[in-house]
Amino acid sequence: MNYAHVFHAGNFADVFKHALLARILIYLNRKDAPYRVIDTHAGEGAYDLSREEVERTGEWRDGIGRLAGLDRASDAGQLLAPYLDIVGACDDEGRPLVYPGSPVIAQKLTRKTDRLVFCEKHPAAFAALKARFARDRRVKTLDLDGWTALGAFAPPPERRGLVLVDPPYEARDEFSRLAKSFAAAHAKWSTGVYALWYPVKDARDADGLWKAVRASGAKSALRLEFAVAPPGAPGLARTGLVVVNPPFVLEAEAHVLLPALVRLLEREAGAGACAIETFGG
Ligand SMILES: C[S@@+](CC[C@H](N)C(=O)[O-])C[C@H]1O[C@@H](n2cnc3c(N)ncnc32)[C@H](O)[C@@H]1O
Repeated sequence: MNYAHVFHAGNFADVFKHALLARILIYLNRKDAPYRVIDTHAGEGAYDLSREEVERTGEWRDGIGRLAGLDRASDAGQLLAPYLDIVGACDDEGRPLVYPGSPVIAQKLTRKTDRLVFCEKHPAAFAALKARFARDRRVKTLDLDGWTALGAFAPPPERRGLVLVDPPYEARDEFSRLAKSFAAAHAKWSTGVYALWYPVKDARDADGLWKAVRASGAKSALRLEFAVAPPGAPGLARTGLVVVNPPFVLEAEAHVLLPALVRLLEREAGAGACAIETFGG
């Protein structure tokens, strides 16, 4: 396990994923009934952006660092407000002091009655995660394999909730592992909301995942893709999120959010793109 999310904290893929995560949680809050958040690959929880590892890549500059240019009064600005409020104040360069990972976003947007389970396998990342949430009695941090957790925690006692699956994609088989593990969890808990994040290096992997989700028997799903540069550009430039049982408002929100994020985050004017595909619903 070599992957450490600190190198990538606050990059364009994080902005895309975390802005959508916030929208899903806000939707779940519309009903009083408690729910559970299961983050299978949680990372450290939040990242101090003054760390040396962050400086080495500087990825936040082309991610959260560009959100300073957002018109907060626009439709997209209003949809992004809950996420940006959690990110908090930034310095003159647009750098937040601490960038929130998915666990902190979930912690901040859930209610007293909701429960959260965060799994992380890397020893140092787990130690940071455990320390960060030690005083929140709603949160259980587990040094547990995320794939095992996905099977073990579906369905949660609340029968409502969100599973975020955000693996590092270090291993070549992680797309097929995700497809299989999702299908097994969905067979046990078909009504949960599942958010499956992926990088797009080879479009066939993303297409294969979408095909597997359709084949799982899921009633509805939304596939969102977001690129900051055209295919073939160096480095990671395209990312996606499949949301199974998406909130009914999410597709309309994505039509507002994604084009605005493309304009803010694309490497050059006109180089970015987004795509929205759906079935069921
Ligand atoms: C992309 S990062 C997670 C980022 C986090 N979800 C966020 O949005 O802030 C993936 C994390 O998965 C962890 N990891 C790798 N293999 C794992 C496994 N089998 N089970 C649980 N965590 C794992 C890595 O150490 C890394 O912290």
